[in-house]
Amino acid sequence: MSFDRKIKIAPSILSADFANFGQEIRAIEDQGCDWVHVDVMDGHFVPNLTFGPATCKAIRPHIRTVMDVHLMIAPVDPYIEAFAEAGADIITAHAEAGPHIHRTLQAIRATGKKAGLAINPGTPAEVLAPVLDLVDLVCVMTVNPGFGGQKFIHSQIDKVRSLRAMIGDRPVHIEIDGGITPETAPLVAAAGADVLVAGSGVFSGGSVSNPDIYGKNIAAIRAAAEAAQ
Ligand code: DX5
Ligand code: ZN
Repeated sequence: MSFDRKIKIAPSILSADFANFGQEIRAIEDQGCDWVHVDVMDGHFVPNLTFGPATCKAIRPHIRTVMDVHLMIAPVDPYIEAFAEAGADIITAHAEAGPHIHRTLQAIRATGKKAGLAINPGTPAEVLAPVLDLVDLVCVMTVNPGFGGQKFIHSQIDKVRSLRAMIGDRPVHIEIDGGITPETAPLVAAAGADVLVAGSGVFSGGSVSNPDIYGKNIAAIRAAAEAAQ
């Protein structure tokens, strides 16, 4: 994975057909997405459950781009090895998931995978400062994590701007997760984001038998973001 700040669209398969991940992934990749965002939830750190490393391992062969795994689980450390073995390219853990985020990021890096730090809407940008040299990506939650289809929280845009200033010329992506549409994408792109996760924004209206809609949704978000970057 080489680093650049070009806009990347990462559809979240949380909004895909769970009985058909293989074909859904093929459809979004054929329709031009850059990464595939995989939301892992434990029903404890967030009030919803999705799936674990076995499902990640099963979908891995279907992903030709980048497998971006977002862990909404606590504790995280006992499972890092399993997600690395499942084939994640990026493993993102939440700053709020426990008292030892520094150790968690070290453990992710030790597997040879890219390390991401996710921060909830109620958590300040400053949590990044002490771990800045341990991360490849910071994921700014623009909804409270747990569910797709929630409303974008506008107060997070200033946080994106602060993070962009803190990162400077380091090779650290700023990813935005939650409520991304062609209307909200330009706001975060202008503030310094380069990776846009979109679940409902990509999948709604389409299906594996009508994948052109996925392509139109991806293209609309990308165009709106690029025009603002
Ligand atoms: C929320 C997840 C997101 C979610 C985004 O907890 O981390 O990745 O799928 O969904 P939308 O784009 O519908 O807000
Ligand atoms: Zn996510």
